Amino acid sequence: MSDYLETYQRSLEHPEAFWSDVAMDIVWDKPFTRVLDNENPPFYKWYPDGKLNTCFNALDRHVENGRADQVALIYDSPVTETIKRFTYRELRDLTAIFAGVLNDQGVVKGDTVIIYMPMVPEAVIAMLACARIGAIHSVVFGGFASNELATRINDAQPKVIVSASCGIEINRVIEYKPLLDAAIAIASHKPDACIILQRPQSKAQMIEGRDVDWQKASAAAKAVDCVSLAATDPLYILYTSGTTGTPKGVMRDNGGHAVALKWSMSNIYDIKPGDVYWCASDVGWVVGHSYIVYAPLLHGCTSVLYEGKPVGTPDAGAFWRVIEQHKVNLLFTAPTAFRAIKRDDPDGKLIKNYDLSSLQSLFLAGERCDPTTIEWAELKLNVPVIDHWWQTETGWAITANCIGLEKFPVKHGSAARPMPGYNLQVLDEKGHALAAGKMGKMALKLPLPPGCLQTLWKNDQGYIDAYLSVYDGYYITWDAGYIDEDGDVWVMSRLGDVINVAGHRLSTGAMEEVLAAHPDVAECAVIGANDELKGQVPVGLVILNSGVSNNHETIINELIARVRNNIGPVAAFKRVIILNRLPKTRSGKILRGTMKKIADGETYNIPATIDDVTILDEIAEAFK
Ligand code: COA
Ligand code: AMP
Repeated sequence: MSDYLETYQRSLEHPEAFWSDVAMDIVWDKPFTRVLDNENPPFYKWYPDGKLNTCFNALDRHVENGRADQVALIYDSPVTETIKRFTYRELRDLTAIFAGVLNDQGVVKGDTVIIYMPMVPEAVIAMLACARIGAIHSVVFGGFASNELATRINDAQPKVIVSASCGIEINRVIEYKPLLDAAIAIASHKPDACIILQRPQSKAQMIEGRDVDWQKASAAAKAVDCVSLAATDPLYILYTSGTTGTPKGVMRDNGGHAVALKWSMSNIYDIKPGDVYWCASDVGWVVGHSYIVYAPLLHGCTSVLYEGKPVGTPDAGAFWRVIEQHKVNLLFTAPTAFRAIKRDDPDGKLIKNYDLSSLQSLFLAGERCDPTTIEWAELKLNVPVIDHWWQTETGWAITANCIGLEKFPVKHGSAARPMPGYNLQVLDEKGHALAAGKMGKMALKLPLPPGCLQTLWKNDQGYIDAYLSVYDGYYITWDAGYIDEDGDVWVMSRLGDVINVAGHRLSTGAMEEVLAAHPDVAECAVIGANDELKGQVPVGLVILNSGVSNNHETIINELIARVRNNIGPVAAFKRVIILNRLPKTRSGKILRGTMKKIADGETYNIPATIDDVTILDEIAEAFK
């Protein structure tokens, strides 16, 4: 039997023995005596009586074991022309001091802290400092607007918010502080304090009595030690778009998370302690949580924190420059980044200017990778290119090609095979497993492996309703696809109203809510149309109230601005089509799927239940 198959089968047949062995790679303050608490299904707890500290495992452990002077974090920021290196000792010391700053602001174990920051080392330090004292961080991506931040403030109820004066987008300074102040003004919950990192590119106006300067507070604070936590204590909350407009607060524990991520580093990614790992994502996304911050540090690697873009900072050779300069061993990014590079440098001419001999592999995730992009990357980089499938909820790969264990042949378009502990099934409407090659809903048999979500933040029923109520005993991924005869998994599309824009997961329902609130809009639908660069982009289809006097262009601009201001620029909402009617079934259901097919130029069946067929021609005309 192959190494992969043996490992996978053992994880399903003897989960407790398997995850007990794997957990030995983590330093426990108090060893667990039980591996899995399955007494209260559908809520499962890994290592229920074990105690540990994630920050200790990520930093102090390495300082104590000979890696104190090894670089832990390289901050590479083309937008500020800065490169800064932090050894494990330096990162530990800065984190311990910032943990003291949090303590000084009254933050203790169990309190929540929102981190709304650009890609600066202080974002990593703030996350680890929370982990150090058992505070629960919730990082909000900087590309979200005040309204989205306010929703998260209300749900997470942070005692303190950590932010910065600004972020930098290529050559544009984005003031974060006004966005933060507006969010706090909108939110019903108010934090006790905001700790603000003043960046030289723009100084924030501080609010007396509420805002605290990062540097001054750090100068006054004392370093604090790691707090021993239960493995089941929450490490973080991360909000993600769901099947409704309201974001869902995915809650992750300490113990299972550390165990799963540590295992992934050598087995999935074939990375050794001391290697240089670069995840070109953002700390605001799950990929950034797991593979910019936690996993590389838990494994004693050097992690690269990149404040730049694949193109434009300064050109499509940016990634190759970083790989050469820092001798990167593994690059992990989203397919959209490669599409952007390929668009600007189709022949890969810039690659030839750099020495990429350190690079061992490229991993892609965040959206389905089209075969053309994988082929291009394989040809130009001459290293294994691995597509792997995961979600905010799982925190690590559901499927991957375990190149550290046993690499199997790469099939372009497939996200490879299930990882240990993920009992993946493709089910029909009634919950019956489908035969190989048959497309259906992809579901994971409970319990989920360590590292996956425990529940939704303070919303156990929401967790059940959103994920566990479709099939008894299964978590539904809301992705559709199939498993082929060889056991390779093909993730083909997303169910529900979630779309994937440049690897960012967004809710069309949330955008529809914003459009519908415009006084001139009678009815609307938002669909995700295929896009060569970003995978999908949202398009708003809108019917106006009769007798509207404003001209259409004004309304379209207002609608675009509203989505940008309410959801954020990251939604990339730039197209609105005004129609006379929307296609609907006789029962009144808007035919979003049919409209998407028309937008994508695909053939479509005229639904038997449609009330008026002529509208479909009108839509086809608009998308020409
Ligand atoms: N703060 C403020 N604004 C932000 C932001 C942030 N942290 N991140 C993005 N934005 C803004 C951008 O400036 C842009 O604004 P614009 O409409 O005024 O141009 C908008 O949000 C969309 O940003 P982005 O998705 O980055 O698109 P882009 O057109 O600027 O760049 C790519 C396209 C492909 C280069 C870019 O999307 C990319 O690098 N994607 C990789 C995605 C990724 O790593 N995903 C993680 C999941 S694994
Ligand atoms: P997020 O939670 O933002 O990481 O988004 C997760 C969703 O992105 C998944 O449910 C999929 O729809 C999609 N996704 C992520 N990685 C892949 C992949 N490798 N192949 C196909 N879809 C993916």
